[in-house]
Amino acid sequence: MRKSKIEGYRSRAVYKFKEIDEKFKILNNVSNVIDLGAAPGSWSQYLSQKIKNGKIVSIDLLKFESIRNTTQIIGDFTNNDVQLMIKSYFKKKIDLVISDMAVNTTGNKNLDSIVTGELCLEAMRFSIDFLNGNGRFISKIFMGSSFNEIVAYAKKAFKDVRIFKPLASRKDSKENFLICKKLR
Ligand SMILES: C[S@@+](CC[C@H](N)C(=O)[O-])C[C@H]1O[C@@H](n2cnc3c(N)ncnc32)[C@H](O)[C@@H]1O
Repeated sequence: MRKSKIEGYRSRAVYKFKEIDEKFKILNNVSNVIDLGAAPGSWSQYLSQKIKNGKIVSIDLLKFESIRNTTQIIGDFTNNDVQLMIKSYFKKKIDLVISDMAVNTTGNKNLDSIVTGELCLEAMRFSIDFLNGNGRFISKIFMGSSFNEIVAYAKKAFKDVRIFKPLASRKDSKENFLICKKLR
């Protein structure tokens, strides 16, 4: 049986997030969080265990089983009404946005990485607008044609920008994570 199943997580994706948290301490002093592309829910499960007094909102196109201490929004994050719904739920700027959003529909890896890059940029634009000054933004990003542009955009908006490939991320995948702290 898989380690994730034994430990009660819905996906092995949790181990990537755990590594990111342990290395970059992204959950220190964090209480209000948005988890984008949350289904089936392992990152939100981890957040729910770690954040006791706060608000966690988990968003995905797909329905998934509810998780204690979290609020679910089912919808397309790129939709303006969905973004307004998130903002009205928190009513104030927040501490952390995490995004594991990805598409995998075309079968063409380059095209998938471009579309996933667009999702990352959309999540970053939202975060720049809705994070507090000490806020953090973590996002999946693929090595591909839009990689340099996305990193440059992140560096304009945040003082501290790192790229990290967790050991739990498959070595043959182009997946990396963008770790951004402190808005300029
Ligand atoms: C790799 S999975 C996320 C796994 C999740 N982090 C976990 O730990 O269980 C990527 C998710 O992004 C979602 N997604 C892709 N585009 C989206 C969008 N525009 N709005 C919301 N969710 C989206 C997909 O439906 C999919 O469930």
